[in-house]
Amino acid sequence: MAAIPDTDYGTPARASERSVTLTVDGMPVSVPEGTSVLRAAAEAGVTIPKLCATDSLEAFGSCRLCLVEIEGRRGYPASCTTPVEPGMQVRTQSPKLADLRRGVMELYISDHPLDCLTCSANGDCELQDMAGAVGLREVRYGFDGKNHLASPKDTSNPYFTFDPSKCIVCSRCVRACEEVQGTFALTIDGRGFDSVVSPGQLQAFMESECVSCGACVQACPTATLMDNSVIAHGTPDRSVITTCAYCGVGCAFEAEVKGSQVVRMTPYKNGQANHGHSCVKGRFAWGYATHKDRITTPMIREKITDPWREVTWDEAIGYAAREFQRIQRQYGRGAVGAISSSRCTNEETYLMQKLVRAAFRNNNIDTCARVCHSPTGFGLKQTLGESAGTQDFDSIDQTDVIVVIGANPTDGHPVFASHMKRRLRAGAKLIVVDPRRIDLVRSPHVEAQYHLKLRPGTNVAIINALAHVVVTEGLSDDAFVRARCEIESYEQWKAFVSRPEHAPEATEAITGVPSADVRAAARLYATGGNAAIYYGLGVTEHSQGSTMVMGIANLAMATGNLGRDGVGVNPLRGQNNVQGSCDMGSFPHEFPGYRHVLDDPTRALFEATYGVPLDAEPGLRIPNMFEASLDGSFKGLYLEGEDIAQSDPNTQHVTAALQAMECIVVQDLFLNETAKFAHVFLPGSSFLEKNGTFTNAERRISPVRKVMEPLGGKEDWEITVALSNALGYPMRYTHPSEIMDEIAQLTPTFAGVSYEKLDRLGSIQWPCNDAAPVGTPVMHRETFVRGKGKFLLTEYVATEEKVNRRYPLLLTTGRILSQYNVGAQTRRTANVEWHDEDRLEIHPHDAEERGINDGDWVGVVSRAGETTLRAHITERVQPGVVYTTFHHPESGANVITTENSDWATNCPEYKVTAVQVMPVFSASEWQARHKRFTEQQLTLLDDRRRL
Ligand code: SF4
Ligand code: SF4
Ligand code: SF4
Ligand code: FES
Repeated sequence: MAAIPDTDYGTPARASERSVTLTVDGMPVSVPEGTSVLRAAAEAGVTIPKLCATDSLEAFGSCRLCLVEIEGRRGYPASCTTPVEPGMQVRTQSPKLADLRRGVMELYISDHPLDCLTCSANGDCELQDMAGAVGLREVRYGFDGKNHLASPKDTSNPYFTFDPSKCIVCSRCVRACEEVQGTFALTIDGRGFDSVVSPGQLQAFMESECVSCGACVQACPTATLMDNSVIAHGTPDRSVITTCAYCGVGCAFEAEVKGSQVVRMTPYKNGQANHGHSCVKGRFAWGYATHKDRITTPMIREKITDPWREVTWDEAIGYAAREFQRIQRQYGRGAVGAISSSRCTNEETYLMQKLVRAAFRNNNIDTCARVCHSPTGFGLKQTLGESAGTQDFDSIDQTDVIVVIGANPTDGHPVFASHMKRRLRAGAKLIVVDPRRIDLVRSPHVEAQYHLKLRPGTNVAIINALAHVVVTEGLSDDAFVRARCEIESYEQWKAFVSRPEHAPEATEAITGVPSADVRAAARLYATGGNAAIYYGLGVTEHSQGSTMVMGIANLAMATGNLGRDGVGVNPLRGQNNVQGSCDMGSFPHEFPGYRHVLDDPTRALFEATYGVPLDAEPGLRIPNMFEASLDGSFKGLYLEGEDIAQSDPNTQHVTAALQAMECIVVQDLFLNETAKFAHVFLPGSSFLEKNGTFTNAERRISPVRKVMEPLGGKEDWEITVALSNALGYPMRYTHPSEIMDEIAQLTPTFAGVSYEKLDRLGSIQWPCNDAAPVGTPVMHRETFVRGKGKFLLTEYVATEEKVNRRYPLLLTTGRILSQYNVGAQTRRTANVEWHDEDRLEIHPHDAEERGINDGDWVGVVSRAGETTLRAHITERVQPGVVYTTFHHPESGANVITTENSDWATNCPEYKVTAVQVMPVFSASEWQARHKRFTEQQLTLLDDRRRL
């Protein structure tokens, strides 16, 4: 699909029910009230020269290039800052206007290097375009006077260069940083001729608050802020619209290509999730796709102590199939299984589950959503009837009270965080529920009204306390509940949360949150207008993850905050396709569309299409696979895109289970931690090398389009097809669109989805079917998917992971903006300049007690294991709580996390581990072992071509 032309209308669109009609160069045009004359002209097809205006930013009126004449008005007003009026007659061309514009351009050009032909922005520069548009042919002023031509470049940022000699001080970058990104890292320093763009206090970009989102680079009309990749490789000659493969925001990008080389990823202005914005990962961190560590030839080995042998695709696939068949003959049909990843496309995860069910003939398929959002699926299905978030991202524009629970959007979901911050700057109120002071609590022009800084593991106690206040203070929306919910369940729940033990005064001792704050936050949520809850893994990755999701849904139903714009319950999905991998039947008990394998009619439907009898017994979940491996009954595993040896809890348990298996097949880009235990390596393809779809956190199915040929020769779906064929179960797809057609045929919520429709609409939010042919931005509008909403009782049960004298601190984990999950991709980009190691955040009080200084190596010991990290002393964490990220394998963050898990879904309790922390001088025993094993495996990898 070609990009819809990125017309720049000069100023943002206005939403008004009142329309204003005017004439531009004699042509009548009607636009919403509040629209600028510049935009009205553009909508009438008349182009007015402009430099400081662009339609992603509010008008500023500094360049004076967009001057027009307006009948009955004196002078030459700037069209970008002049709102339309009824009957206005605008003239955009006249000899006087032409003169004035040429004069303005002449001044700009007189202080600008005349190196257009060799400039990296040649052909992609608005200043150059405008010089042509106003007919500037010569400049009367020389370069002898005062100018900025010798200003030094700032090359501190690894991804873009700032060359102030080319700056026209239009302030588009400053406004982009404020209005679009919300970071406020840039200012214009000085006045008049001395004005310069300044990151922070005249700092270099890398020293400033800049988070490298790229919005300023995008907004700059000149070559002042330029992508280094474009400087190095030249301007692109074609582009392909695709979807970011990092987080669950699902930003649309134009992958811009020169020859077969990607030279820039530009956020797509018409992208419905991101509206032209990006973060450092999607915008800049794509170099891993061609990193030297990519493995592009299939490899096999019999034992993990053998060197790898490079083989043909046929040999590798044939070997894997024979091994799986041998294991099933020897140990039984259930001795093999597969784990897919949320990094895979919908089509790939669908095929993985199909291979397991139809070729392995069991249900041993699971996905990494098990370890992140499985409680979301369970909790929302039970209460509302659908395992997904209720809103689209744009719904937040109608929200008055935003509640963020256990999520860190500025790091985990940065583009949506910028959207959220825009709404907060426009006046919405904010409640943050988090043990740690995340950036949203206080950042430029944003401040949470309440930060409920609870102790890790006490979510359910807090949600019950909030509900207690709502119910006992008469703040519930009884009319909504009567009309939309099961009254009996409501009455029971009401009686339950009204009990005195749920009062904020009683829960204060459990949660550590002052009762007055809980009461005030509950009142604000219930009475502040449209209230929306956004939550993340800080809700789900607990022993009571599913209970907490239900508690959130209960609270939203009780206050009538569901079923319309501006409200809702919104899980912020971590990885790009968490939603999709769940939708596609990647759990061992569910077919695509969340239908149980025990359900006879559903199974019959799939049996008719798959042409084989299917197992009615739910299969093994990931933790069960490990247990079964250790007891000798599970011997073969096929993994696509998932690195369980790094990402799953209790690493030593996981690696012991991997070592006990006889055939591990890893399909991935790199020799990841799990691949070090593998017997077959199948080279996967990056998102730039394949076709498919991802489904983001708002249920939006977006196309992933092939930008370059797969380096290993096959797209991932083709590898699964080949393996299935070798296993004797034929798959005959020629393109992922056919896989989507099969998904649509079998899955009611996807019935109306097709590649043709995706091309036409850009993206589609499921459910998409006859009742909703263009998709469903907001769910549960008239009724809940399950009919009546159901309240469920949410008894708080303290986690078994308790602090004691031996393990007195609680460790919680999270992510950082510049890195992504196990870091396999981002660690192979310049993003390591922001984060090259995981550190342990510790409160000054706890550090002092232990004699720990900032930067010291500290041992972190839990009941599961021990590792060593460097300490970062900060008041972001509360006393008694420590925190780390988990992006670097050698950190061993998951060596210390335990196997405690959610009671309903087995989602690991990553967010609560009791630990002790003390100064140390050497790496832990596990780290030393890991280092030796890694060196051995890398040698075996290096040896592959010598054989
Ligand atoms: S890259 Fe983003 S955060 Fe950094 S200065 Fe530019 S707009 Fe601001
Ligand atoms: S850096 Fe670019 S966007 Fe910023 S003021 Fe200079 S020319 Fe304008
Ligand atoms: S916010 Fe998420 S989807 Fe968007 S560019 Fe960043 S990582 Fe990619
Ligand atoms: S575009 Fe209107 S003043 Fe610059």
